[in-house]
Order: sequence, then structure tokens, then C-alpha cells
Amino acid sequence: MKIETTDNRQVYLRRLNSYDLDNLLHYLENLSMETKKRFGPHQFDKQSVIDFYDCLDIHWGYVAENIDTNEIVAYSIIKFGYLESDYNRFLSYGIKLDSKIDCEFAPSVADFWQSCGIGNKLFHFILADLKKTAAKRIVLWGGVQADNERAINYYKKIILNC
Ligand SMILES: CC(C)(COP(=O)(O)OP(=O)(O)OC[C@H]1O[C@@H](n2cnc3c(N)ncnc32)[C@H](O)[C@@H]1OP(=O)(O)O)[C@@H](O)C(=O)NCCC(=O)NCCS
Repeated sequence: MKIETTDNRQVYLRRLNSYDLDNLLHYLENLSMETKKRFGPHQFDKQSVIDFYDCLDIHWGYVAENIDTNEIVAYSIIKFGYLESDYNRFLSYGIKLDSKIDCEFAPSVADFWQSCGIGNKLFHFILADLKKTAAKRIVLWGGVQADNERAINYYKKIILNC
């Protein structure tokens, strides 16, 4: 799906595929330390990425691709089911996660492309895709760091628009 950013750059939203490995590694390597420390589903080296997608029915990747250069400019992950640590975290709030209907979400956008609407549009693209699956609830992968104001605002906006 083609979309336009708020500063009129065009990107294509789609599922990650096996041909994306080099492009994805390039994306991960070029994230700033600030962005890397916020994004925790896997390490940033080749083997970690390969291992992570070993089981394709558990982890789905989504990307935004720059239409002009084919570079990946945003990358988000859905994990079907939940992490043990998140199960316990939600239990402490009185919510019991259910692997049949729950999934986890972890978003990232390349530094130069942040705050221009891609994260929001990619989330809604993912949401539409998830409607074709058994997933009914989305939880944040490991929660969100209390000082990550941008992400907290991002999630608040998503909740308001769902
Ligand atoms: C958090 C992140 C995924 C948001 O994606 P994005 O493309 O930058 O966000 P969008 O441009 O779609 O903006 C959506 C909302 O986020 C909030 N937001 C975006 N940039 C912001 C900024 N610089 N400061 C404060 N809030 C901001 C706003 O509420 C915005 O809505 P608005 O445009 O109506 O004001 C992205 O900034 C990112 O990758 N950050 C680093 C990694 C990270 O923190 N991941 C989440 C871990 S929990």
C-alpha cells in the first residue's frame, strides 16, 4: 500500500519478506543509539534476525519502504502469543493474556523519518492485516519506557483512533 508522509515523501507499506534481509540489516545498523535502546525484540546482527524469523508463524515483520530508493525506513514486528514477562506484567494488572487471541507489537521508524506519520500509518496497515487472523488484542512488546515521550504519545494517538 502506497502512502504519503506529512512532508510529502512517498513510501510503500508491506509485509517483510525473505528478500529483505540485507536491506533490513542496513536499516538496523543505521538506527541511532537512542532508537536502538527503545527497540528490543531482537539484536541487530544478521544471525539474530535470521533466528528471530526462524518460526514464521510466530513473528511477522512489516516495513515501510522508500519508493525512490527501496530502502527500508520503518520496521515493526507482531509476535503472535506473548512473552512470559508480559504475561506476568499483565497478570499484575489483573489481565490474563491468552495466546489464542493476543499478540505483541513493537514499532520502529528510522531516525530521519520519525514524526512524519509513518509509524501511525504502518500501525493501521498492520491492524487491517491482523483482522484476517485470530488476533483480537494487541499489547506492547515489553511495555514502553517511562521516559519515551514520543512513543507514549504515539500509543495514545493510536488508542484514540482505534
Ligand atoms: C515511536 C515511533 C514508532 C513513532 O512513529 P513516528 O512515525 O515517529 O510517529 P508518527 O509521525 O506517526 O506520529 C504519531 C504520533 O506520535 C506522537 N509523536 C510523534 N513524534 C513526536 C515527537 N517528536 N514528540 C512527541 N510526540 C510525537 C504524536 O502524538 C503523533 O501524533 P500527531 O502527529 O498527530 O501529533 C517512532 O518515533 C520510533 O521509532 N521511535 C524510536 C523507537 C521507539 O521508541 N519504539 C517504541 C518502543 S516502545
